Amino acid sequence: MADKGTYYISTPIYYPSSNLHIGHTYCTVMADAMARFKRLQGYDVMFLTGTDEHGQKIQLLAEEKGVTPQQYVDEVVAGIKDLWKTMEISYDDFIRTTEDRHVKRVQELFMRMYKKGDIYKGNYEGWYCTPCESFWTENQLIDGKYCPDCGREVTKAQEEAYFFQISKYADDLLKIFRETPEFLEPEARRNEMISFIEQGMEDLCISRSSFDWGIPVPIDEKHVIYVWLDALSNYITALGWPDDPEKYNKYWPADVHLVGKEIVRFHSIIWPAMLMSADLPLPKQVRGHGWLLLGGEKVSKSKAAKGNDVIDPVVLIDRYGIDALKYFLLREYTFGQDGVFTNEVMLKRLNYDLANDLGNLVSRTVSMIEKYNGGIVPDLTDAGKCIPGEDGIDYDAQLKEIAISAADKVGKQMDDFKFNLALEEIWVVVRRANKYIDETMPWVLAKNEEDKPRLDNVLHNLAEAIRIVSVLIHPFMHTTSDAIRKQMGLWYADVAWEDAFTFEMMCGEQVKKGAAIFPRLDIDKELEELYALGAKIAEEKGEVNIPLELKDEIVYEDFDKLDLRVGTILSAEKHPKADKLLVFQVKMGTEKRQIVSGVAEYFKPEDCVGQKVVVVANLKPRKLRGVESKGMLLFADNIADGKERVEFVSTVAEDGNPVT
Ligand code: MSP
Repeated sequence: MADKGTYYISTPIYYPSSNLHIGHTYCTVMADAMARFKRLQGYDVMFLTGTDEHGQKIQLLAEEKGVTPQQYVDEVVAGIKDLWKTMEISYDDFIRTTEDRHVKRVQELFMRMYKKGDIYKGNYEGWYCTPCESFWTENQLIDGKYCPDCGREVTKAQEEAYFFQISKYADDLLKIFRETPEFLEPEARRNEMISFIEQGMEDLCISRSSFDWGIPVPIDEKHVIYVWLDALSNYITALGWPDDPEKYNKYWPADVHLVGKEIVRFHSIIWPAMLMSADLPLPKQVRGHGWLLLGGEKVSKSKAAKGNDVIDPVVLIDRYGIDALKYFLLREYTFGQDGVFTNEVMLKRLNYDLANDLGNLVSRTVSMIEKYNGGIVPDLTDAGKCIPGEDGIDYDAQLKEIAISAADKVGKQMDDFKFNLALEEIWVVVRRANKYIDETMPWVLAKNEEDKPRLDNVLHNLAEAIRIVSVLIHPFMHTTSDAIRKQMGLWYADVAWEDAFTFEMMCGEQVKKGAAIFPRLDIDKELEELYALGAKIAEEKGEVNIPLELKDEIVYEDFDKLDLRVGTILSAEKHPKADKLLVFQVKMGTEKRQIVSGVAEYFKPEDCVGQKVVVVANLKPRKLRGVESKGMLLFADNIADGKERVEFVSTVAEDGNPVT
């Protein structure tokens, strides 16, 4: 295999959150596909991921759980590693910011910046978003009080802090964005960053002293290093910079930092400025991807409950397999743009592309080779060549041309991070091969002995096309690729990218039909089951938040017309003429009045005495079957012992008091 040099790709390091959802896996799945693709092409790949474990947020979470921050992160990080293992993410290193190798190197980076004269001590007064661990200036806030990243309310923070004179590097950064546009893709993000810098950059607060879960500032133990400076450094500390520089020298500068769009600013402005300050080379590229949205919002735990879509990757993998999930994520969404995730979109993709197109191609071909040639892939013969018919098309030549030119096209799309288009190029081959079956009709050829050479060539060409597809899909779905190769009798050969450029490799392989590589799904049934499962998961986690179906909205003035009062029931008796009604005497402060209510089937009159009730006190009086009722009592609807009933809404308030 050609030695193509090195390729270093990173994902962000994740906050230790116990519920990584499908949105989180998106970035890692892309990075994994790219790493596998580059390895297959002959690159020496370094694929880095990890966890970002310091900061106030973690400290607070640990306190809530009654454990130390270290205990908290150890447990959650083990879960994250398990998830990546389940998903067969092929990372080469996993860095944890609590590891010694990271801690000491972050301190060293801080010292380099400090010695450069770029760090000074001052007083910080600003707006802080705890969940995002970010300080904001007044004019960056939304409506003067909300975090521009997550929309949550910020709080005023004041403390002694160290600052990084990031503004010193503003001109250099602008120059990079303008002269080396590929430094940040896509273009829309680049423009955002340029205007961010042009608005004027304030010095960056890079230490905190009001909590201690962080890496100590080496010159001042009262302070811990601001979590973003800590986190961003992972891209070089994992390589051993500066004390064990073998890997650093080999892989740095990184070829690409793959990150979500909301953290592009940290990666394309703050991180490069830190590196400039420490006189280190900058990464070659930062690529910002979009978000997976659920019902129009970034996928989040609470939103998931709403539509009851299942967004837990483990559950989805259990039902449909890792490759199905990876394929869906890579094929459905366009890099850089947001995309909506729903179970329905996913299921349709799986059925159409995987079960129908790819699954059918493989199973039809293997069946035909078994049926018409004893399970052996036939060799090509001149006698079996395609003789173009009335349409003048040489089907064999067309299939071959499309199949052997696909690898280049896939490569071009991958270089541009267009995973969806790369897969689309592969499916051009898959669909063309399916069409080839319909055009050549092997079952008709099989009827005539003299057509056997032609039948052999057709089966051979199909086997070649499937072999090429198995190579092309390998970076995206290696388990499926292996399963296909096994069915095609290719178990003896390693997958090599070069093999996708030739159409003359197969002859004499023994094919063997296996289980359907992607079984066809009954979409309606699956959806129903997924929604039920989604509701159950949300309920177990206490995250159900499905908006109630309510009557038409009213304005405050409508509500204000009601006079609701607390009352105490003095007595209750059956209505003389109606079985369903009870006649209550109710005391509200100084006033006693009679109210009739349709609750006789739920209460014995004697059980009601002394109960508190909410009364609609200014409802116009009316007669109910001849008995006057002045107002209405409010009860809560309930189901008890499987039967519908109502209950008193208990209150301890004084009767006569308004309910507001
Ligand atoms: N710890 C920081 C990164 C530090 S890197 C030096 C962080 N962590 S995170 O866990 O909140 O996010 C990790 C990645 O997941 C980010 O790139 C983020 O954009 C991505 N995603 C989180 N939710 C997502 C979606 N719903 N859709 C796509 N990606 C999303 O940020």
